[in-house]
Amino acid sequence: MSTEVRTDAGRLWSRLMDMAKVGATSGGGSNRQALSDDDQAGRDLFIEWVQQAGCSIELDGVGNLFARRSGTDPDAPPVVMGSHLDTQPTGGRFDGVYGVLGGLEVIEALNDASVSTRAPLEVAVWTNEEGSRFPVSMMGSAVWAGVSDLDSTKALTDRSGVTVGAELDRLRWSGTAAFGKPLSAYLELHIEQGPILEASGSSIGVVTGVQGIRWFEVTFEGFAAHAGTTPMDRRRDPARALADTLHGVYELAAADADRVRVTPAQFASEPASPNTVPSKVSFTVDMRHPDAAGLDRLEAALRSLVAEAADQHGCGHRIDVINDCAPVVFDPRCIGAVEAAARLCGFAFEHIGSGAGHDACHVAMRAPAGMIFIPCQDGLSHNEEESIEPDDAGRGADVLLHAALELAGVADDTANAGRTTEC
Ligand code: GLV
Ligand code: MN
Ligand code: MN
Repeated sequence: MSTEVRTDAGRLWSRLMDMAKVGATSGGGSNRQALSDDDQAGRDLFIEWVQQAGCSIELDGVGNLFARRSGTDPDAPPVVMGSHLDTQPTGGRFDGVYGVLGGLEVIEALNDASVSTRAPLEVAVWTNEEGSRFPVSMMGSAVWAGVSDLDSTKALTDRSGVTVGAELDRLRWSGTAAFGKPLSAYLELHIEQGPILEASGSSIGVVTGVQGIRWFEVTFEGFAAHAGTTPMDRRRDPARALADTLHGVYELAAADADRVRVTPAQFASEPASPNTVPSKVSFTVDMRHPDAAGLDRLEAALRSLVAEAADQHGCGHRIDVINDCAPVVFDPRCIGAVEAAARLCGFAFEHIGSGAGHDACHVAMRAPAGMIFIPCQDGLSHNEEESIEPDDAGRGADVLLHAALELAGVADDTANAGRTTEC
């Protein structure tokens, strides 16, 4: 295998391992929830690395960070690579981190080979992709793309009432970079987070799009009463409405197991007492479907299940949509560049749809966007045991490198160095 420009899989792996030490969990994963001190510490480490690689840094008003390597054409919009450094509370070491450090590795490889691109290259670190602390996922990219407005995003609170705005101020993450600036293209490298590539033996997933995602917060209001003395038939128990709803929601998924995903979570009751019938129960439901119409059908079914359950058990109810991301089809030129790069490198690849949401979904509304997946062990993600092979990580970074070169263009004086015939 020979190449004139190639990423260094060893350097990438060692940085992934160094980043995983920030907010490391006892189960071998990472806990760097959005806008926390550990999220800040992860960014500090990244900033140190990109500055050593010669990049300049800018932040926008919601804390999205962009590290820039100049191109030779000052008028060309950048090709942006990136993902997120925040994690789930019991997150793995690679979800998001791999796309950010993969972008940095591309820049390092071009520096090593003294290759200039025509368009600038940037690595984006989007704020709060996970949505586990502040409950909207892909938050920073949503504001950047104009899908959410800055003021209502800053007003979002975590479970202890701290706002996004207060944390942005505390960490000094509010910068002045323009939202939604023109991009030549956006490429997000990510672990698949599912079992498809591992099962088929493909090293690379050329991602064609992302399924639709909608989150609901459901609340049932009942009546607090004594657990020992109140006969079962004299209760207005919101937990029973919850039970009926859960049953119905899982039935929806069972009826179309290939396409429908439902995830009830974040259950809370008030008063939180074991010997009082709760007066209020709330929970979230994450629903996913590859088609917009399918997602609408799921929402309608959820609404009627909730209304029926509330009625049956004498409860009030309320449903709020707290997150909504339509299905996305990626840009054909980006898909083509990823496929061409995988071919050039001689890696087995296949086209694949994404089951997980990514910042690329929002960026795709403003700029040509695409994604690259690599396999992960047992398809496991959002789990401390999430794992990938170092060689797969290197292959994905090589595909990102060559796709980015294709989209950014190699500057004339380094044209020969940038062009490869094999990896
Ligand atoms: C992103 O982590 C998602 O919820 O798909
Ligand atoms: Mn992710
Ligand atoms: Mn995630």
